[in-house]
Amino acid sequence: MELNLEEILSKVKELVLKAGEKVKDAFESREIINSSIEVKHTNPTDLVTAIDKNVENYLFSSLKEIYPSFLLVGEETVSSTESQKVNLTDTPTWVIDPVDGTTNFVHGFPFVCICVGLLVKKEPVLGIVYNPVLNEMYTAIKGKGAFINNKKLPLIKNTPLQSLNKSLFMTEYGYYLGEDKVNIKVGNAKSMLTIPAHGVRSLGSCALDMCQVARGGADFYFEIGIHTWDLAAASVILRESGGAIVGYRRPEGLDNSISIVDEPFDLNGRKILCIRNCIEGKEHQSKLLGEVRKLLKDFEIESD
Ligand code: IPD
Ligand code: CA
Repeated sequence: MELNLEEILSKVKELVLKAGEKVKDAFESREIINSSIEVKHTNPTDLVTAIDKNVENYLFSSLKEIYPSFLLVGEETVSSTESQKVNLTDTPTWVIDPVDGTTNFVHGFPFVCICVGLLVKKEPVLGIVYNPVLNEMYTAIKGKGAFINNKKLPLIKNTPLQSLNKSLFMTEYGYYLGEDKVNIKVGNAKSMLTIPAHGVRSLGSCALDMCQVARGGADFYFEIGIHTWDLAAASVILRESGGAIVGYRRPEGLDNSISIVDEPFDLNGRKILCIRNCIEGKEHQSKLLGEVRKLLKDFEIESD
């Protein structure tokens, strides 16, 4: 059955706006947040609040009512299972992060967003990333372009993406996984700073970092430790803005004729490298992605 993605987007936008009211109210009043901060995986830096759970429940139940045959994957639901695995199938599947940027949310740093992505045959085809505090809604449908509050992305256009030493990078450090891993993540940021690139930024929400790259406000984003729900929605927005997404390493066995920008990307692989749209074209994107990859160190991490 052919899905009418435009109709789906307009219905789901309404739900996300309502979820956004809950997030914004809690962000401003602080009451529920302060009384409900918990840590996940007994890791003191991986936080969750009652609002994360409440918003996920709200989106799950409303989406189930409108699209009963679609499956649902959400950060809080997967985190509460024993396997903690995201098992994707060919059935249309919603992939939801109720609050991306939970640490920001807890601290009152206004980069928080609700992410709702739709996968069909394991491929992201629709994405909404909404920051209710700053009232910015990013949306995209595969093949139909990406938008912020209905303005087409990229917003910052026609800036050449010349070389790594003229680039602005984004990265995130995730939650604490031990000193060795911190050293690798910080080392990767240091590698960019000592190119020397123009700078390295972090918003504390990987989905909003990806949207920033889609917007044209930053040139690259990379992270190890990202989850499927962090990136599913934003991946449609980034690709539809003319950007590309790859892993840290070229997938094994891939034909040499496939350029880096066209490599298949593993949604559950926990490693991401993104580049923005650029007027120099895809070949240039591939060249620069190859150069960034040579600088990035990584470590083994269990996939989602
Ligand atoms: C996290 C944030 C953080 C990123 C992590 C994410 P959460 O999501 O986006 O910036 O470094 O990889 O898991 O826990 O705030 O939903
Ligand atoms: Ca997240």
